[in-house]
Amino acid sequence: MKLTVSILKADVGSIGGHTKPSRHMLAASEAAVKEAIRKGLLIDGSVSHTGDDIALLVTHTRGPGDFDVHQFAWNTFLKAAGIAAKYGLYGAGQDLLKDAPSGNIRGAGPAVAELEFNHDVVKTNKVRPAESFMMFAADKCGPGAYNLPLFLAFADPMYCAGLMLPKLIKGFTFHIIDMDNAQGDSLISLNAPEDYYKISMLLRDNERFAIDTITSRTYDEPAAAISATRLHNIAGTYTGKDDPVALVRNQGIFPAPEEIVSPFTKAHYVGGDARGSHVMPLMPVPINTAVTGTYCLPLVSATGFSIDADGRFSDSFIDFFDNPAWDEVRAKAQLKALAMRDQGWSGAAMLPYHELEYSGFRDTVTGLLGQFAFRDGQVKANGSARKGNKVAAKG
Ligand code: 13P
Ligand code: MG
Ligand code: MG
Repeated sequence: MKLTVSILKADVGSIGGHTKPSRHMLAASEAAVKEAIRKGLLIDGSVSHTGDDIALLVTHTRGPGDFDVHQFAWNTFLKAAGIAAKYGLYGAGQDLLKDAPSGNIRGAGPAVAELEFNHDVVKTNKVRPAESFMMFAADKCGPGAYNLPLFLAFADPMYCAGLMLPKLIKGFTFHIIDMDNAQGDSLISLNAPEDYYKISMLLRDNERFAIDTITSRTYDEPAAAISATRLHNIAGTYTGKDDPVALVRNQGIFPAPEEIVSPFTKAHYVGGDARGSHVMPLMPVPINTAVTGTYCLPLVSATGFSIDADGRFSDSFIDFFDNPAWDEVRAKAQLKALAMRDQGWSGAAMLPYHELEYSGFRDTVTGLLGQFAFRDGQVKANGSARKGNKVAAKG
């Protein structure tokens, strides 16, 4: 069968500030998933949270962007937002940016990543005799947070020795999206390894370019999908951070889980964090972790699943970052966080002016710009200094 794995995620309210959704919100989301399975819309589903974001991970046969699956997710988020409002939680309905999206909810606030592939898990299947995949969910950061780790996992044998094996050696195609193009999805496809430097050149800019999907060049099979949209481009103003999710298939013709998670040992610096406007390290955490750390440090979770012949996966899962091996990385992330926080608002500690997410920060600068005056009190041709607003001469 053609199977679709979809992850749909939204922040619709959280307890005591932007920390985590309440148990009532999660219970309502679980009940909604159960009901959708009972009705036959979904094959299977599981609900989790990373920080203040609720993730609905589901399987079905309706393809990516399906009207009914997306409407189900939207209505589930609406229900959870209603509960958040009832209990007076922070940011109730925050990511539901449109009144009623017509169909696909990608571009209406929630983050969406979907993979569709042929699912026929029998021993004789040479390409995928078994189907295993990982779900990544990150809080307090933008979609570019996956640029470096997923590039290294799918293009650099220093992190993924599997790339040197016959099944992977032709490499992967990176479909990269220009998130600044608000007119539509604007993509470029580049091949690793030969376009390695060009891909790096784009992916270095986490705020503008992000990996949208990755495909196997040998098997033409989808390997990964990332929710690469910017909320501020949808809403026209800052409403919350993008907090991206990703689906990554693993093993066999794809990198193994340890190869995919190994670049996350970097705890690399990403944009996001407090007021969506700072630069802080990405800390790997167990699933269902609340945001309570230093300056709301960006978090990422990674869970793994196997899919049976009927498309069911939720019976059990593995939590990759819930392991003492990752304590070392968490301590490293904390040290990197403290080092960055040591310099407060200065230079690299905050995002550049045009990326400051709280438009209020920019309003403060704009207000001050209007008060600048030339030292000699002259009005220049562009009118940038006001007459009479004379500033004392230097020295
Ligand atoms: P969320 O998008 O997780 O709500 O984070 C918003 C923010 O600005 C953190 O300070
Ligand atoms: Mg939030
Ligand atoms: Mg969030």
